[in-house]
Amino acid sequence: MRKISFNKHWEFTFDNALDAYNNYGLQKFKEAYGAPEQFYKFNNWKKIDLPHDWAVALPKNLNTDTLGGCRAKTYYNKFMTEKRTNEKDIYSIGWYRKVFDFQDDWKNKHIFLDFEGIYRNWTVWINGIYMDNHFSGYTGSVLEITDMLCEGENSVCVRVDAEHPEGWWYEGAGIYRNVNLLIGEKIYFKPYETVIKANGKGEVSVSAILVNDSECQICTNAIFRILDSSKKTVAECLRHVCIQPYGEHIVYADLIVENPRLWDIDNPNLYTLTIDAIDFEEEIFGFRTVELDSEKGFALNGKQIKLNGACVHQDFGGVGVALSDNLNRYKIAKLKEMGVNAYRASHHPPSPSLVRACDELGMLLLDETRIFGTSPEAIRELTDLIKRDRNHPSVFIWCIGNEEGEIQNLSWGQKIAKKVCRIARTLDDTRLCTYGGNNGTNYEGINGGVDVRGVNYIRNGNVDVYHNEHPTQAIIGTEESSYVLSRGCGATDLSKQTLVSNGMITMPWGSTHKGWVKYAEARPWFSGGFMWTGFDYRGEPMPFEYSAFSSYFGAIDLCGMEKSPFYYYKSWWTDEPILKILPHWSYIEGENVTVNVFTNCEHIILKLNGLIIAEQDVQKYDAPEFSIGFAPGILEVFGIKKGIEYYDCVRTSGKPIEIRQQLILPCEKEGDIGIVELNAFDSAGVLCQDCEMQVSIELFDGDIVGVGNGNPNDCNYEQKPDEERFHYISAFETENGLYTIPQKQENIHIHMPYRSQKKKTIIHENASDFFEDDYRDVFYTFDDRRIYDSKNIVFVANCTLNEDYEYLEFERLHGEARVFLDGVEIGNNLLGFSKNNRPYRFYCNANKGNHEIKVDCTIFDGTSGGISGNVKFGKIINKNIWSLNLHGGKGRVFIKYHDTYSLKTYFGN
Ligand code: GAL
Repeated sequence: MRKISFNKHWEFTFDNALDAYNNYGLQKFKEAYGAPEQFYKFNNWKKIDLPHDWAVALPKNLNTDTLGGCRAKTYYNKFMTEKRTNEKDIYSIGWYRKVFDFQDDWKNKHIFLDFEGIYRNWTVWINGIYMDNHFSGYTGSVLEITDMLCEGENSVCVRVDAEHPEGWWYEGAGIYRNVNLLIGEKIYFKPYETVIKANGKGEVSVSAILVNDSECQICTNAIFRILDSSKKTVAECLRHVCIQPYGEHIVYADLIVENPRLWDIDNPNLYTLTIDAIDFEEEIFGFRTVELDSEKGFALNGKQIKLNGACVHQDFGGVGVALSDNLNRYKIAKLKEMGVNAYRASHHPPSPSLVRACDELGMLLLDETRIFGTSPEAIRELTDLIKRDRNHPSVFIWCIGNEEGEIQNLSWGQKIAKKVCRIARTLDDTRLCTYGGNNGTNYEGINGGVDVRGVNYIRNGNVDVYHNEHPTQAIIGTEESSYVLSRGCGATDLSKQTLVSNGMITMPWGSTHKGWVKYAEARPWFSGGFMWTGFDYRGEPMPFEYSAFSSYFGAIDLCGMEKSPFYYYKSWWTDEPILKILPHWSYIEGENVTVNVFTNCEHIILKLNGLIIAEQDVQKYDAPEFSIGFAPGILEVFGIKKGIEYYDCVRTSGKPIEIRQQLILPCEKEGDIGIVELNAFDSAGVLCQDCEMQVSIELFDGDIVGVGNGNPNDCNYEQKPDEERFHYISAFETENGLYTIPQKQENIHIHMPYRSQKKKTIIHENASDFFEDDYRDVFYTFDDRRIYDSKNIVFVANCTLNEDYEYLEFERLHGEARVFLDGVEIGNNLLGFSKNNRPYRFYCNANKGNHEIKVDCTIFDGTSGGISGNVKFGKIINKNIWSLNLHGGKGRVFIKYHDTYSLKTYFGN
């Protein structure tokens, strides 16, 4: 099917800003009302493009749900004894709408909407027709909308309820992954049903399902092609297929590619399979073999390698969980740079663009489902995940759960695990299943029910004993390390919640980097493991339970800046010569500073202000550590590796006087988000790494999406709400005299007493010409208020604006109101359902100068009419001036731009 991005031109609002009444329209076809209505008029929703995460824009409330990243949604979990927020549900439910035109070339086609992921519990309508409800915040859904579409204008509406958590980390809220429109022909390939199995010898077997949704049998040729990376056809075959009316047909083909270029972590060679059969199918795949052996560990294409892995949650600095495709790619590239070769999508299905990045950059992927078990929902999520990802060469194993409480120790758990693995095998018989168990030597429970034992923390029991007792089961360290550290910190200060950056402080179940890496290295049967975590993430600010908003576990901070473990792993997991001295050299005279040299040099010499203070050989997996009394100046390290000298140093910095910026990640295509890094320097050009200070930034020719600095204790906004400026209206003239503003709703004095009744009438109807006996008395109810009592009232205000404004906003408009500016109707509330209960914003050109506002209001029996609350002109100002705290002299700005941008920075605000 043809795939078109459907990310642009959506509108968003919180539930509380909306009509109180929305009807799901389950009673009758196309009869949903309120926001889901086909032509619902929504004039004060925020214009957005997807992906979108509304939670990241909320203020951080450090007393609220820290596990979930301190966002003032109402969710709370079992670790809390009470709801840790006073804010009601105002931020837990959001609505999205998009209006789109039916395109000429959609006629006689099959149209689908492909939602890649929405957090969470979401309901979708097309043109007021209830479509579906989806529970998971991590799997997607493809919905055929062909029958719901009309010629002309169409609308899609999505209600998202993010109140309850699925995990124990920051999960975001909203349509945070891509939405695509899929267009299939009169016969079409069923989405996510194409299966490609490719081995290391170049043999490919393909199956795909063709659907015929017509009353005629359709026969056609299906041409299968395999293209290499230069788009050259390297294998081809043809099948003749006939598909019965309203039938489905599975097409199969076996192809061979001579001398295939294998996919591996250094050369991620990819091929494309295409099938032409009236409709068109295209899938990326790769040739590779994977083995997990209980004695020899993990092998890719027959070659033994250790899994040097990282567990990662899906969020990132500035954007929350709404990562653009290029940010997902950036995260994978950054991990590769550190020497990571495997990614654990902990503990939920990753986004499709992350999986693609793993394929393209050569990153093995441990692909994990969210809910363990055999409940219908758990099976649905596992099935959706496997169907979506089974053709990807990077995916090497399925993970069916993580630390599932008590059941992981019981035979009950084992029974369920075996069934889940059986289900996984029916969907994909080329991969094994594992499970992240933190239950040591236990085999009776889930561990005994999976193919590969996943060890969450070597410290949780004796893995050597487990291996001896179960010598035929392969073993992976699904989760290791869990040390905690702050970026660039020379000494722990619990009062400031900063932790020394050497990686030695671990949670009770954790280990140091050296500890677990050496453990894995010494045991060929231990296939390697996944550090907890590659990147810091929002939530779980252990060991500081209820205070900070993000974690301390990462080798890289939330915004992508390196912490010290990055250099540790890079030293021992890559072939590059590394010599890095950390953290920095700006402290109080005499303070004891913990300094580490991260290096794979054979020998190092340390000099403070020109004098040698240490010299030593470096053993494999060491990170030489020194406790040095601070004296200002320069701390240098000289290293030798294979006869070549290397050098690094840190210097004491003075007052910051300059902010330099560097484009870390450019915007190259539509939807990309770029990263600009800011660094504070002193007058001698030394990076001020002890500097915590506020800067203001202003972007020209682009938009700032978010900001961050990697500091778990930073309370600032990550996404600043737009600043607005207003001009308030103080009074309107009416026929009853002056009507001052604002008015309380209960004071609205323009009220029509209830006089007319709904009319109940029995009407005798005569028999019709063709149905002689059919005369009857029919009971009708008329709503006849329009015929009887209604009243009209006009409000007029004259005002002078000192500058241009973008919109006119009424806090409430009661009755049926039409709004005119200088005699031109700029909007009305006639189509809104519950007209009284929400603000109305009318965009207009309210230029500097004199204006007349007229509100022409009709009030019916028993109702009130008029204006309550404030009336104001408004506009968004300073859209691109933001403030940001530099932490350790650094901060990052996430931006969107086309071609060029320019960013200005100022000290202070
Ligand atoms: C593990 C868990 C992770 C994370 C980690 C923190 O037990 O699987 O999700 O909570 O601990 O150390």
